[in-house]
Amino acid sequence: MTEIIESIKKIAVDINKAIKTKDTGKIESQNASGDVQVKLDVISDKIVEDYLLEVSSVKEIISEEKEEPITKESGKYFVAYDPLDGSSLIDVNLSVGSIFGIYENGYNGKNIVASAYVVYGPRLELVVARDVVEFFRFNEEKNEFDFVKEINLEKKGKVLGPGGTQKYWFDYHKKMIDGLFGEGYRLRYSGGMVPDLHQILLKGGGLFAYPATTDKPKGKLRKLFEVFPFAYVFKKAGGGAIDGVNELLGLKADYFHDTTPCFFGSEYEIKKVLQAYKGKK
Ligand code: AHG
Ligand code: MN
Ligand code: MN
Repeated sequence: MTEIIESIKKIAVDINKAIKTKDTGKIESQNASGDVQVKLDVISDKIVEDYLLEVSSVKEIISEEKEEPITKESGKYFVAYDPLDGSSLIDVNLSVGSIFGIYENGYNGKNIVASAYVVYGPRLELVVARDVVEFFRFNEEKNEFDFVKEINLEKKGKVLGPGGTQKYWFDYHKKMIDGLFGEGYRLRYSGGMVPDLHQILLKGGGLFAYPATTDKPKGKLRKLFEVFPFAYVFKKAGGGAIDGVNELLGLKADYFHDTTPCFFGSEYEIKKVLQAYKGKK
């Protein structure tokens, strides 16, 4: 596991460099989820692939940009990753990220054993969730990641990131979001789940929602590469991660690019979601 985390640190430095130096344009192809790819999606995917395949404990890798996994002869960990999350924000120079889920015996929610994400923002930061959630920041002078602190969520936060197209929200969802704004929550939604969730984790709490909508009944965010890794981070940080009714980490993935509605937050806001969604599905 340490080997994988060390390799993620090198990946972070290389992708950070690529973001700052390579072309930010789009390409003609689409990924397995039908998203328009940017050149940096493909470059970042290759950077991660090259490093992870060198790690002896890695058995298999699959990414948001790949149709099928790449499997090795030996190793025990299955790594699912989103090499560049929020890549449509690159051209407007907002923060983006990479997300990694480390699994044993396949890719279901219950099989995740660690996760990590990288934030490429004004600063390069890394969060690793194993028994606890550790926050690191890259120090340019030392050329290494410094440990900053452990992340632990408060019971209740102040910010709200409500995803999905509002005209397609279900009424009970809209009522819940309106209710939270009515309580004084402030809107924080960039369109990149990495910086949006990083903000909630570092500001002590809040809620990020990417719900089922009438146009996307299974939500948008992908279980293996985005949802399970962040669910693991939020659970280990003392918060919650549900699909409205069920624990996200209790879910199975029917296929590699399977999606689910998802809510990540601190205890108070997750309770609010459960109340609003009870009997509404
Ligand atoms: P990606 O760039 O890897 O395709 O992921 C984008 C995701 C996620 O980061 C974000 O929270 C969500 O898409 C935003 O979706 P909307 O544009 O529908 O808000
Ligand atoms: Mn993504
Ligand atoms: Mn992506």
